[in-house]
Amino acid sequence: MAHLLSHILLLFVVVSLHVNVIAQENESNIILPGSILYAGKHQRSWPSPSGHFEFGFYRQGSGYAVGVWLVDRPENTTVWTANRDDPPVSASSTLEFTAQGKLPLRTENGAQKIIANTSSSGSVYSACMLDLGNFVLYQNRSVVWESFDFPTDTILGGQNLTRDHNQLISSVSRSNHAGGQFLLSMQTDGNLVAYRGILTMSSESDLYGERIVANGSTTGNQTMIIYRASLDPNGIFRLYSHQLENNTISNIWQDVDDVCDVNGHCGLNSYCSSKGDDFGCYCYPGFTLENTKIPSCSQNFTVDGCESRKDLLIQYNITTLENMEWAGDPNYVKHNLDKEECKKACEEECSCGGVLYSIPNCNMIRLPLKFGKRHENINTTAFIKVIVGSSSEIRPTLINNQTEA
Ligand SMILES: *[C@@H]1O[C@H](CO)[C@@H](O)[C@H](O)[C@H]1NC(C)=O
Ligand SMILES: *[C@@H]1O[C@H](CO)[C@@H](O)[C@H](O)[C@H]1NC(C)=O
Ligand SMILES: *[C@@H]1O[C@H](CO)[C@@H](O)[C@H](O)[C@H]1NC(C)=O
Ligand SMILES: *[C@@H]1O[C@H](CO)[C@@H](O)[C@H](O)[C@H]1NC(C)=O
Ligand SMILES: *[C@@H]1O[C@H](CO)[C@@H](O)[C@H](O)[C@H]1NC(C)=O
Ligand SMILES: *[C@@H]1O[C@H](CO)[C@@H](O)[C@H](O)[C@H]1NC(C)=O
Ligand SMILES: *[C@@H]1O[C@H](CO)[C@@H](O)[C@H](O)[C@H]1NC(C)=O
Ligand SMILES: *[C@@H]1O[C@H](CO)[C@@H](O)[C@H](O)[C@H]1NC(C)=O
Ligand SMILES: *[C@@H]1O[C@H](CO)[C@@H](O)[C@H](O)[C@H]1NC(C)=O
Ligand SMILES: *[C@@H]1O[C@H](CO)[C@@H](O)[C@H](O)[C@H]1NC(C)=O
Ligand SMILES: *[C@@H]1O[C@H](CO)[C@@H](O)[C@H](O)[C@H]1NC(C)=O
Ligand SMILES: *[C@@H]1O[C@H](CO)[C@@H](O)[C@H](O)[C@H]1NC(C)=O
Repeated sequence: MAHLLSHILLLFVVVSLHVNVIAQENESNIILPGSILYAGKHQRSWPSPSGHFEFGFYRQGSGYAVGVWLVDRPENTTVWTANRDDPPVSASSTLEFTAQGKLPLRTENGAQKIIANTSSSGSVYSACMLDLGNFVLYQNRSVVWESFDFPTDTILGGQNLTRDHNQLISSVSRSNHAGGQFLLSMQTDGNLVAYRGILTMSSESDLYGERIVANGSTTGNQTMIIYRASLDPNGIFRLYSHQLENNTISNIWQDVDDVCDVNGHCGLNSYCSSKGDDFGCYCYPGFTLENTKIPSCSQNFTVDGCESRKDLLIQYNITTLENMEWAGDPNYVKHNLDKEECKKACEEECSCGGVLYSIPNCNMIRLPLKFGKRHENINTTAFIKVIVGSSSEIRPTLINNQTEA
């Protein structure tokens, strides 16, 4: 998987022909100490020499946030946000580039927050919004702080994920750039792994398998194409190109094809089904939706420790769902069974929550069901046990029924 990263880096190195940045910068774009930006009036931002990127205040919710964006139509693309989890600030907020080389953000109630933490000593400071999308502070013409070192959900052509600055966190949504639910991290072993932070179930999932090939070949006028890779709010890591000539954005690569392959959208006993970028979480038949932040489902009855309760007679229905996939390891796998035998194996095993039949394997798992996905290309049949009651008196009843969701 390290080769994924190297492919992406290679792509970025290929397309970023800019070196010795400060020497090439247009002197009229150098920002000197004393310069001030105002959230609610001119001057709100500092442009890069090409005008493609700007640093400053942008609209966020009912107020403003500080960040870097790619100037685009109909919407600008935010590529970096300072203190992204702070609430938006009001129109009377200001941002000053001070003689000490700091960027204090002052809000109306007098609160002050430092955006770039440079350890000061009386030197000559300057700042610049570079054409690569990097906002940089210089001390004696050497870089002392750069926004590229603090990626949020995006890396741009020329920007690296490094050991020290090694993660991307998705945004809440396309319009709210506060930290969202997904995290992409480059581990010390060089592997890129994605996590969903807020799930209580075991959520670590290696989404970046061998299927990944990022093809770095580029065509066209490279000075007019800006590349960006973002961990989108839905957890898909995508490489985009912005063609500035005709103002089009193309998604030229993504790590998974189906948004449901990003584990963690749907909670326990719930499965994901997608259409394009939209997805839904659905309960297995016989399960009811719980009122949880991530859609989860439960049965009305559960029986704990059935192995030790030989007296207990459990009544259940078997429901059937086609085209299912469950991630994670099955309790056990039986080979060379047919579909009916697979179903029967689950009926006979009290700890069985469900079986997934995929010719000729029968994968048996316990509840709760995790990371379920349904897609028409998946040729499987799932049988799920739904407990409808238990009794120590009545004889076991098995009601075979076919339920299609
Ligand atoms: C510097 O930028 C200004 C405006 O952004 C432009 O008018 C000027 O031609 C540029 N100079 C050079 C040398 O690129
Ligand atoms: C995009 O950014 C430019 C430059 O800062 C600004 O003039 C414009 O209003 C922004 N567009 C939107 C839709 O916010
Ligand atoms: C600024 O950086 C210094 C040294 O890197 C660190 O000790 C200090 O805590 C930082 N301050 C803030 C507000 O992050
Ligand atoms: C920056 O330049 C000033 C004046 O030329 C010098 O006194 C100072 O030591 C330099 N600082 C660094 C970090 O190079
Ligand atoms: C990113 O890494 C490449 C290769 O190591 C290096 O040449 C380049 O300067 C780095 N870019 C930044 C912005 O640090
Ligand atoms: C990458 O693109 C080139 C040129 O279009 C093509 O020849 C090559 O087969 C592609 N490689 C992969 C792995 O898709
Ligand atoms: C690329 O675009 C720039 C700006 O429009 C233009 O000056 C240059 O000639 C173009 N280069 C090629 C190879 O088309
Ligand atoms: C935009 O321009 C690029 C080349 O610069 C071209 O490949 C692409 O097809 C164009 N898209 C549209 C919608 O015209
Ligand atoms: C179980 O199956 C029976 C027979 O089809 C049906 O009447 C009953 O509603 C089902 N129970 C549950 C909990 O799904
Ligand atoms: C589970 O219980 C709820 C509320 O008591 C009920 O609305 C629902 O129909 C039940 N579900 C099943 C599958 O029996
Ligand atoms: C799914 O499996 C069945 C049973 O072997 C087979 O007849 C059918 O062609 C398969 N469908 C697909 C799309 O592979
Ligand atoms: C399954 O249940 C439905 C209604 O609950 C019933 O009409 C159907 O006959 C049952 N199927 C089997 C195989 O028992």
